[in-house]
Amino acid sequence: MMTDRETIIQALLTIPQLKPQQIQDVTIKDTGTIGVILSLPPIDPNFRDSLVQQCKAKVMPIEGVKDVWVKIGVALPTQAEKPGGVAQVKHIIAVSSGKGGVGKTSVSVNLAVSLAEMGYKVGLMDADIYGPNVPLMLGMDSASLWVERDDAGNEIVEPAFNYGVKMVSMAFLIDRDQPVMWRGPMLDGMVKKFLHQAKWGSLDFLVVDMPPGTGDVQISLAQSVPLTGAIVVTTPQTVALLDARKGLKMFQNLNIPILGIVENMSYFVPPDLPDRQYDIFGSGGGTKTATELGIPILGCVPLEISLRESSDRGIPMVLAHPDSKSSQAIRQVAQNLVGIVAVNSESRA
Ligand SMILES: Nc1ncnc2c1ncn2[C@@H]1O[C@H](COP(=O)(O)OP(=O)(O)OP(=O)(O)O)[C@@H](O)[C@H]1O
Ligand SMILES: [Mg+2]
Repeated sequence: MMTDRETIIQALLTIPQLKPQQIQDVTIKDTGTIGVILSLPPIDPNFRDSLVQQCKAKVMPIEGVKDVWVKIGVALPTQAEKPGGVAQVKHIIAVSSGKGGVGKTSVSVNLAVSLAEMGYKVGLMDADIYGPNVPLMLGMDSASLWVERDDAGNEIVEPAFNYGVKMVSMAFLIDRDQPVMWRGPMLDGMVKKFLHQAKWGSLDFLVVDMPPGTGDVQISLAQSVPLTGAIVVTTPQTVALLDARKGLKMFQNLNIPILGIVENMSYFVPPDLPDRQYDIFGSGGGTKTATELGIPILGCVPLEISLRESSDRGIPMVLAHPDSKSSQAIRQVAQNLVGIVAVNSESRA
Protein backbone atom coordinates (compact mmCIF):
# COMPACT_ATOMS: atom_id res chain seq x y z
CA MET A 1 0.00 0.00 0.00
CA MET A 2 1.29 3.46 -0.88
CA THR A 3 1.90 5.86 1.98
CA ASP A 4 0.47 9.41 2.24
CA ARG A 5 1.94 12.89 2.74
CA GLU A 6 0.77 13.19 6.33
CA THR A 7 2.55 9.99 7.40
CA ILE A 8 5.77 11.24 5.86
CA ILE A 9 5.48 14.69 7.42
CA GLN A 10 4.84 13.14 10.83
CA ALA A 11 7.90 10.92 10.41
CA LEU A 12 10.04 13.94 9.43
CA LEU A 13 8.82 15.93 12.40
CA THR A 14 10.28 13.38 14.79
CA ILE A 15 13.64 14.97 13.84
CA PRO A 16 14.14 17.40 16.73
CA GLN A 17 15.85 20.18 14.69
CA LEU A 18 13.12 20.35 12.06
CA LYS A 19 10.18 22.75 12.39
CA PRO A 20 6.85 22.17 10.54
CA GLN A 21 7.14 25.41 8.50
CA GLN A 22 10.53 24.29 7.20
CA ILE A 23 8.99 21.39 5.28
CA GLN A 24 8.27 23.08 1.97
CA ASP A 25 7.00 20.13 -0.02
CA VAL A 26 6.65 16.35 -0.04
CA THR A 27 6.08 14.46 -3.28
CA ILE A 28 5.08 10.83 -3.64
CA LYS A 29 5.57 8.87 -6.85
CA ASP A 30 3.76 5.60 -7.69
CA THR A 31 7.17 4.00 -7.96
CA GLY A 32 7.68 4.56 -4.22
CA THR A 33 10.11 7.46 -4.63
CA ILE A 34 9.58 10.16 -2.03
CA GLY A 35 10.82 13.72 -2.57
CA VAL A 36 11.33 16.02 0.39
CA ILE A 37 12.00 19.74 -0.03
CA LEU A 38 13.09 21.72 3.00
CA SER A 39 13.56 25.45 3.28
CA LEU A 40 16.07 26.44 5.94
CA PRO A 41 18.09 29.47 6.98
CA PRO A 42 21.73 29.35 5.81
CA ILE A 43 23.23 26.30 7.49
CA ASP A 44 26.65 24.79 7.69
CA PRO A 45 27.34 21.97 5.22
CA ASN A 46 27.99 19.36 7.92
CA PHE A 47 24.60 19.95 9.48
CA ARG A 48 23.05 19.88 6.02
CA ASP A 49 24.51 16.42 5.33
CA SER A 50 23.44 15.06 8.70
CA LEU A 51 19.93 16.43 8.17
CA VAL A 52 19.65 14.75 4.77
CA GLN A 53 20.73 11.45 6.34
CA GLN A 54 18.25 11.84 9.19
CA CYS A 55 15.37 12.56 6.78
CA LYS A 56 16.22 9.45 4.76
CA ALA A 57 16.50 7.34 7.91
CA LYS A 58 13.04 8.45 9.04
CA VAL A 59 11.24 8.02 5.72
CA MET A 60 12.87 4.88 4.28
CA PRO A 61 11.29 2.45 6.83
CA ILE A 62 7.76 3.62 5.97
CA GLU A 63 5.76 0.97 4.12
CA GLY A 64 5.87 1.25 0.34
CA VAL A 65 8.85 3.63 0.27
CA LYS A 66 11.53 2.52 -2.19
CA ASP A 67 13.70 5.61 -2.42
CA VAL A 68 14.02 9.05 -0.82
CA TRP A 69 15.63 12.23 -2.09
CA VAL A 70 15.99 15.40 -0.04
CA LYS A 71 16.55 18.92 -1.35
CA ILE A 72 17.39 21.83 0.91
CA GLY A 73 16.72 25.39 -0.23
CA VAL A 74 17.98 28.28 1.84
CA ALA A 75 15.24 30.72 2.79
CA LEU A 76 16.79 34.17 2.80
CA PRO A 77 14.89 37.26 3.88
CA THR A 78 13.70 39.39 0.94
CA GLN A 79 14.44 43.13 0.62
CA ALA A 80 11.00 44.02 2.00
CA GLU A 81 11.80 42.09 5.16
CA LYS A 82 15.07 43.93 5.75
CA PRO A 83 15.55 47.41 7.19
CA GLY A 84 16.69 49.83 4.47
CA GLY A 85 15.82 47.39 1.70
CA VAL A 86 14.88 48.52 -1.80
CA ALA A 87 11.10 48.26 -1.90
CA GLN A 88 9.71 45.94 -4.58
CA VAL A 89 13.08 44.31 -5.21
CA LYS A 90 13.12 40.87 -3.66
CA HIS A 91 16.77 39.87 -3.89
CA ILE A 92 19.92 41.85 -4.60
CA ILE A 93 22.77 39.61 -5.69
CA ALA A 94 26.31 40.96 -6.07
CA VAL A 95 28.58 39.29 -8.62
CA SER A 96 32.16 39.85 -7.56
CA SER A 97 35.71 38.55 -7.76
CA GLY A 98 39.03 39.28 -6.15
CA LYS A 99 40.83 39.52 -9.48
CA GLY A 100 39.92 41.44 -12.63
CA GLY A 101 39.05 39.90 -15.96
CA VAL A 102 37.79 36.56 -14.64
CA GLY A 103 34.35 36.97 -16.24
CA LYS A 104 32.13 38.79 -13.72
CA THR A 105 30.42 40.85 -16.37
CA SER A 106 29.95 37.88 -18.71
CA VAL A 107 28.47 35.85 -15.86
CA SER A 108 26.26 38.73 -14.63
CA VAL A 109 24.80 39.44 -18.07
CA ASN A 110 24.15 35.79 -18.99
CA LEU A 111 22.81 35.01 -15.52
CA ALA A 112 20.41 37.95 -15.69
CA VAL A 113 19.15 36.90 -19.14
CA SER A 114 18.79 33.25 -18.01
CA LEU A 115 16.75 34.28 -14.97
CA ALA A 116 14.55 36.44 -17.21
CA GLU A 117 14.08 33.46 -19.55
CA MET A 118 12.98 31.38 -16.57
CA GLY A 119 10.19 33.91 -16.02
CA TYR A 120 11.64 36.02 -13.23
CA LYS A 121 11.61 39.80 -13.24
CA VAL A 122 15.22 40.82 -13.44
CA GLY A 123 17.29 43.98 -13.16
CA LEU A 124 21.00 44.37 -13.79
CA MET A 125 23.05 47.12 -12.23
CA ASP A 126 26.46 47.85 -13.68
CA ALA A 127 28.45 49.09 -10.70
CA ASP A 128 31.83 49.02 -12.40
CA ILE A 129 32.86 52.67 -12.60
CA TYR A 130 36.34 51.80 -13.81
CA GLY A 131 35.28 49.83 -16.85
CA PRO A 132 31.52 49.71 -17.23
CA ASN A 133 30.83 47.27 -20.05
CA VAL A 134 27.44 45.77 -19.29
CA PRO A 135 25.74 48.03 -21.89
CA LEU A 136 28.05 46.73 -24.60
CA MET A 137 27.43 43.08 -23.70
CA LEU A 138 23.68 43.69 -23.55
CA GLY A 139 23.72 45.32 -26.97
CA MET A 140 22.96 48.80 -25.64
CA ASP A 141 26.14 50.78 -25.95
CA SER A 142 24.53 53.73 -27.64
CA ALA A 143 21.57 53.85 -25.28
CA SER A 144 21.61 56.65 -22.79
CA LEU A 145 19.87 56.83 -19.51
CA TRP A 146 16.64 58.68 -19.10
CA VAL A 147 16.73 60.90 -16.02
CA GLU A 148 13.65 62.81 -14.96
CA ARG A 149 12.43 64.49 -11.79
CA ASP A 150 9.53 63.47 -9.61
CA ASP A 151 7.05 65.92 -8.04
CA ALA A 152 9.39 66.52 -5.10
CA GLY A 153 12.23 67.39 -7.49
CA ASN A 154 14.20 64.18 -6.90
CA GLU A 155 15.98 62.70 -9.87
CA ILE A 156 14.42 59.49 -11.11
CA VAL A 157 16.40 57.15 -13.33
CA GLU A 158 14.52 55.11 -15.94
CA PRO A 159 16.38 51.85 -16.58
CA ALA A 160 17.19 50.78 -20.14
CA PHE A 161 15.68 47.45 -21.23
CA ASN A 162 16.89 44.67 -23.52
CA TYR A 163 16.57 40.86 -23.68
CA GLY A 164 14.09 40.87 -20.80
CA VAL A 165 16.45 42.67 -18.44
CA LYS A 166 16.18 46.18 -16.96
CA MET A 167 19.56 47.79 -16.72
CA VAL A 168 21.30 50.84 -15.37
CA SER A 169 24.99 51.46 -15.85
CA MET A 170 27.55 53.82 -14.45
CA ALA A 171 28.61 54.16 -18.09
CA PHE A 172 25.51 56.26 -18.72
CA LEU A 173 26.36 58.78 -16.03
CA ILE A 174 30.12 58.91 -16.15
CA ASP A 175 32.14 61.15 -18.37
CA ARG A 176 34.64 58.68 -19.77
CA ASP A 177 37.24 61.39 -20.21
CA GLN A 178 37.14 62.19 -16.54
CA PRO A 179 40.14 60.85 -14.59
CA VAL A 180 39.32 57.67 -12.73
CA MET A 181 40.57 59.06 -9.41
CA TRP A 182 37.73 61.60 -9.35
CA ARG A 183 35.20 58.90 -9.64
CA GLY A 184 35.78 57.42 -6.16
CA PRO A 185 34.05 60.09 -4.07
CA MET A 186 31.10 60.21 -6.50
CA LEU A 187 30.68 56.53 -6.16
CA ASP A 188 28.77 56.25 -2.95
CA GLY A 189 26.12 58.69 -4.14
CA MET A 190 25.81 56.91 -7.46
CA VAL A 191 25.35 53.49 -5.94
CA LYS A 192 22.59 54.84 -3.70
CA LYS A 193 20.98 56.69 -6.60
CA PHE A 194 20.89 53.59 -8.75
CA LEU A 195 19.46 51.51 -5.98
CA HIS A 196 16.83 53.84 -4.62
CA GLN A 197 16.05 56.27 -7.44
CA ALA A 198 15.88 53.94 -10.41
CA LYS A 199 12.40 52.89 -11.51
CA TRP A 200 13.04 49.18 -11.14
CA GLY A 201 9.40 48.36 -10.58
CA SER A 202 8.91 45.02 -8.93
CA LEU A 203 11.87 42.68 -9.39
CA ASP A 204 12.62 39.15 -8.24
CA PHE A 205 16.35 39.63 -8.74
CA LEU A 206 18.62 42.61 -9.06
CA VAL A 207 22.03 41.37 -10.22
CA VAL A 208 24.88 43.77 -9.50
CA ASP A 209 28.02 43.51 -11.65
CA MET A 210 30.84 44.66 -9.42
CA PRO A 211 34.22 46.09 -10.29
CA PRO A 212 37.13 43.77 -9.52
CA GLY A 213 38.63 43.62 -6.07
CA THR A 214 37.48 44.62 -2.65
CA GLY A 215 37.29 48.39 -2.82
CA ASP A 216 34.91 51.30 -2.30
CA VAL A 217 32.02 50.03 -4.40
CA GLN A 218 31.76 46.78 -2.46
CA ILE A 219 31.75 48.57 0.87
CA SER A 220 29.40 51.27 -0.37
CA LEU A 221 26.96 48.71 -1.73
CA ALA A 222 27.14 46.62 1.41
CA GLN A 223 26.36 49.67 3.51
CA SER A 224 23.63 51.13 1.26
CA VAL A 225 21.49 48.08 1.02
CA PRO A 226 20.95 44.70 2.60
CA LEU A 227 22.30 42.32 -0.02
CA THR A 228 20.77 38.87 -0.23
CA GLY A 229 24.28 37.66 -0.90
CA ALA A 230 27.24 37.52 -3.22
CA ILE A 231 28.32 35.20 -6.01
CA VAL A 232 32.08 34.96 -6.34
CA VAL A 233 33.53 34.30 -9.81
CA THR A 234 36.89 32.55 -10.02
CA THR A 235 39.00 30.87 -12.64
CA PRO A 236 40.86 27.62 -11.97
CA GLN A 237 44.20 29.39 -11.79
CA THR A 238 45.79 29.48 -8.36
CA VAL A 239 46.31 33.24 -8.30
CA ALA A 240 42.69 33.97 -9.08
CA LEU A 241 41.70 31.47 -6.44
CA LEU A 242 43.88 33.07 -3.79
CA ASP A 243 42.31 36.38 -4.67
CA ALA A 244 38.87 34.90 -4.52
CA ARG A 245 39.57 33.82 -0.96
CA LYS A 246 40.43 37.41 -0.08
CA GLY A 247 37.13 38.46 -1.64
CA LEU A 248 35.27 35.83 0.32
CA LYS A 249 36.82 37.09 3.52
CA MET A 250 35.73 40.65 2.75
CA PHE A 251 32.13 39.59 2.29
CA GLN A 252 32.31 37.60 5.49
CA ASN A 253 33.65 40.67 7.32
CA LEU A 254 30.83 42.78 5.89
CA ASN A 255 28.36 40.12 7.01
CA ILE A 256 27.14 39.35 3.49
CA PRO A 257 26.25 35.70 2.84
CA ILE A 258 28.24 34.07 0.04
CA LEU A 259 25.71 32.21 -2.08
CA GLY A 260 28.24 30.27 -4.12
CA ILE A 261 31.21 30.17 -6.44
CA VAL A 262 31.10 30.16 -10.24
CA GLU A 263 34.23 28.71 -11.81
CA ASN A 264 34.63 30.47 -15.15
CA MET A 265 37.00 29.45 -17.94
CA SER A 266 36.94 26.02 -16.27
CA TYR A 267 38.06 24.23 -19.41
CA PHE A 268 38.35 24.98 -23.12
CA VAL A 269 35.82 23.78 -25.66
CA PRO A 270 37.25 23.98 -29.20
CA PRO A 271 34.69 25.31 -31.70
CA ASP A 272 35.45 22.60 -34.25
CA LEU A 273 35.23 19.78 -31.68
CA PRO A 274 32.50 20.82 -29.24
CA ASP A 275 32.50 17.44 -27.48
CA ARG A 276 36.14 17.78 -26.48
CA GLN A 277 37.31 19.57 -23.38
CA TYR A 278 40.82 20.75 -22.51
CA ASP A 279 41.76 21.63 -18.94
CA ILE A 280 44.20 24.39 -19.85
CA PHE A 281 44.35 26.01 -16.44
CA GLY A 282 44.15 22.77 -14.47
CA SER A 283 40.68 21.73 -13.49
CA GLY A 284 38.67 21.69 -10.29
CA GLY A 285 40.33 24.63 -8.50
CA GLY A 286 37.08 26.46 -7.88
CA THR A 287 35.38 23.26 -6.82
CA LYS A 288 38.23 22.50 -4.42
CA THR A 289 38.12 25.94 -2.79
CA ALA A 290 34.34 25.79 -2.60
CA THR A 291 34.44 22.44 -0.82
CA GLU A 292 37.21 23.57 1.51
CA LEU A 293 35.31 26.67 2.50
CA GLY A 294 31.94 24.93 2.66
CA ILE A 295 30.46 27.14 -0.07
CA PRO A 296 28.26 25.73 -2.86
CA ILE A 297 29.67 25.62 -6.39
CA LEU A 298 26.95 27.05 -8.62
CA GLY A 299 28.50 25.96 -11.90
CA CYS A 300 31.61 25.56 -14.05
CA VAL A 301 31.53 27.64 -17.24
CA PRO A 302 33.93 26.61 -20.02
CA LEU A 303 36.04 28.91 -22.13
CA GLU A 304 34.46 29.20 -25.57
CA ILE A 305 35.53 31.51 -28.35
CA SER A 306 31.90 32.12 -29.27
CA LEU A 307 31.21 33.50 -25.79
CA ARG A 308 33.63 36.36 -26.27
CA GLU A 309 32.47 36.88 -29.86
CA SER A 310 28.81 37.06 -28.93
CA SER A 311 29.60 39.41 -26.02
CA ASP A 312 31.42 41.72 -28.39
CA ARG A 313 28.42 41.68 -30.72
CA GLY A 314 26.08 42.59 -27.87
CA ILE A 315 24.19 39.30 -27.88
CA PRO A 316 24.57 37.31 -24.66
CA MET A 317 25.85 33.74 -25.15
CA VAL A 318 22.69 32.15 -23.70
CA LEU A 319 20.73 33.78 -26.54
CA ALA A 320 23.31 33.59 -29.34
CA HIS A 321 24.27 29.94 -28.68
CA PRO A 322 21.71 28.51 -26.27
CA ASP A 323 22.88 24.90 -26.74
CA SER A 324 26.57 25.57 -26.12
CA LYS A 325 28.31 24.07 -23.08
CA SER A 326 28.78 27.50 -21.51
CA SER A 327 25.10 28.43 -21.95
CA GLN A 328 24.05 25.16 -20.34
CA ALA A 329 26.45 25.85 -17.48
CA ILE A 330 25.10 29.36 -16.92
CA ARG A 331 21.49 28.17 -16.93
CA GLN A 332 22.58 25.66 -14.29
CA VAL A 333 24.03 28.55 -12.26
CA ALA A 334 20.69 30.35 -12.54
CA GLN A 335 18.79 27.27 -11.43
CA ASN A 336 21.11 26.64 -8.51
CA LEU A 337 20.85 30.28 -7.48
CA VAL A 338 17.06 30.12 -7.51
CA GLY A 339 17.24 26.92 -5.46
CA ILE A 340 19.45 28.56 -2.87
CA VAL A 341 17.50 31.76 -2.66
CA ALA A 342 14.19 29.85 -2.69
CA VAL A 343 12.12 32.51 -4.40
CA ASN A 344 8.44 31.92 -3.91
CA SER A 345 6.83 30.45 -6.97
CA GLU A 346 4.02 33.03 -6.95
CA SER A 347 6.59 35.69 -7.82
CA ARG A 348 6.94 34.24 -11.33
CA ALA A 349 5.81 36.56 -14.10
N1 LIG B 1 33.89 31.59 -20.52
C1 LIG B 1 34.44 32.46 -21.38
N2 LIG B 1 34.77 32.08 -22.64
C2 LIG B 1 35.33 32.98 -23.51
N3 LIG B 1 35.59 34.25 -23.23
C3 LIG B 1 35.27 34.69 -21.99
C4 LIG B 1 34.68 33.82 -21.00
N4 LIG B 1 34.47 34.56 -19.88
C5 LIG B 1 34.91 35.81 -20.16
N5 LIG B 1 35.39 35.89 -21.41
C6 LIG B 1 35.98 37.08 -22.08
O1 LIG B 1 37.01 37.54 -21.22
C7 LIG B 1 37.01 38.95 -21.17
C8 LIG B 1 36.82 39.40 -19.72
O2 LIG B 1 35.53 38.99 -19.29
P1 LIG B 1 34.61 39.94 -18.41
O3 LIG B 1 34.61 41.32 -18.92
O4 LIG B 1 33.31 39.26 -18.25
O5 LIG B 1 35.44 39.87 -17.04
P2 LIG B 1 35.30 40.80 -15.75
O6 LIG B 1 35.65 39.95 -14.58
O7 LIG B 1 33.98 41.45 -15.73
O8 LIG B 1 36.43 41.86 -16.02
P3 LIG B 1 36.67 43.23 -15.20
O9 LIG B 1 37.35 42.80 -13.94
O10 LIG B 1 37.55 44.03 -16.09
O11 LIG B 1 35.34 43.84 -14.94
C9 LIG B 1 35.90 39.42 -22.10
O12 LIG B 1 36.45 39.69 -23.37
C10 LIG B 1 34.99 38.20 -22.20
O13 LIG B 1 34.29 38.14 -23.43
MG1 LIG C 1 33.47 43.52 -15.60
